[in-house]
Amino acid sequence: MSELPLIKARADFPALTHRVRGKPIVYLDTAATALKPWPVIERISLFNTYQTANVHRGAHFLADQATTFFEETREKVRSFLNAESTDEIVFTKGTTDSINLVAQTYGKKYLQPGDEVLLTELEHHANIVPWQMICEERGAKISVVPIDADGRLDEKVFQQKLNSKPKILAITHCSNALGTINDVKKYIQWAHQAGAKVLVDGAQMVANHKVDVRDLDADFYVFSGHKLFGPYGVGVLYGKRAILENLPPYQGGGSMISQVTFEKTTYNDIPYRFEAGTPNIEGVIGLGPALDYVQKLGWDNITLHEQMLLNYATEKILEIKGITILGPKSEKAPILSLKIEGVHHSDAGQVLDQENVAVRAGHHCTQPLMRKLGVPGTVRASISVYNNMNDIDLLVKGLRKVQELFL
Ligand code: ALA
Repeated sequence: MSELPLIKARADFPALTHRVRGKPIVYLDTAATALKPWPVIERISLFNTYQTANVHRGAHFLADQATTFFEETREKVRSFLNAESTDEIVFTKGTTDSINLVAQTYGKKYLQPGDEVLLTELEHHANIVPWQMICEERGAKISVVPIDADGRLDEKVFQQKLNSKPKILAITHCSNALGTINDVKKYIQWAHQAGAKVLVDGAQMVANHKVDVRDLDADFYVFSGHKLFGPYGVGVLYGKRAILENLPPYQGGGSMISQVTFEKTTYNDIPYRFEAGTPNIEGVIGLGPALDYVQKLGWDNITLHEQMLLNYATEKILEIKGITILGPKSEKAPILSLKIEGVHHSDAGQVLDQENVAVRAGHHCTQPLMRKLGVPGTVRASISVYNNMNDIDLLVKGLRKVQELFL
């Protein structure tokens, strides 16, 4: 294999120098959470050490400075997603919070009894349960696009489902469990033709590919900081201005108001209307260097690095008898979801852990998808910019050990 383009990126992640049980860790669980590079760690630390202050409230130097940093990040996110305006960028706690926000505002306002919300079998629980909750409240129904044998959406059924004119399509850009990448640009066009608004769950996509919300024509696009080398507890909701402006608030509290009396409250403009209370200031400010970091690595380098390792891992794993890679075998995100014949995923996860190979073993918050695949869970290895061939070799060695011990 020719040299990996981002072979030096590893040095940016101090967690990889830490030894567990006297040995370095083989981190293959980026789909659950990405490690943090120095610039993110240092930015959070600097803010907490010397720059702490609340935002949008103060009349002193530190408060003004914190507000400037906070709003500069909003501009970075706007540019990252190519949104038209910073008014369209709402800071939330994460992907789950962003989806709940849309369900509880857009869903509450527009869903009528009998209406449909269209989901897919690839969705994470975060893009299922909030819709079920609001559908139950509004008397609306959930409809689901199935996957085919390759773990890709069945487009024929998809088009049929759109004939019944769902109000909302909520769809993942990339499956966290299988790595399937959905052609959301095409699906958004289809959905718009059918009169639906579209929310795209970008949690698993944003760290691997450039996303352009205007090119996609997404109505809502959501993601989390922690899957993008950024802090926990911070996420983004992008929404088209014309839609957000007409939505009621999500939560009540400070910052989201214009005037409050005991008789009546008037609400702030977007995006602040959706940001009640003191936000995760260090999280938002720490997201800035995470966005800078991936852009500095370069999208072409990220894709090439990850795909080279994915191909190498796929080839090596397919050589092992009794292990199946679920979902697409190519043209997908660097995620390998493995079924090991005769071994429960939790047992396999434990053996790999003993070898310091960190993977996720479970249903990956996609129980309906696991049910469809006929497995209780899988062993999922996910690859990122800081992985190298040695990591893959150690994964493969660990998988062989699992088979030796259990078969
Ligand atoms: N949604 C995260 C995962 O896929 C936590 O593991």
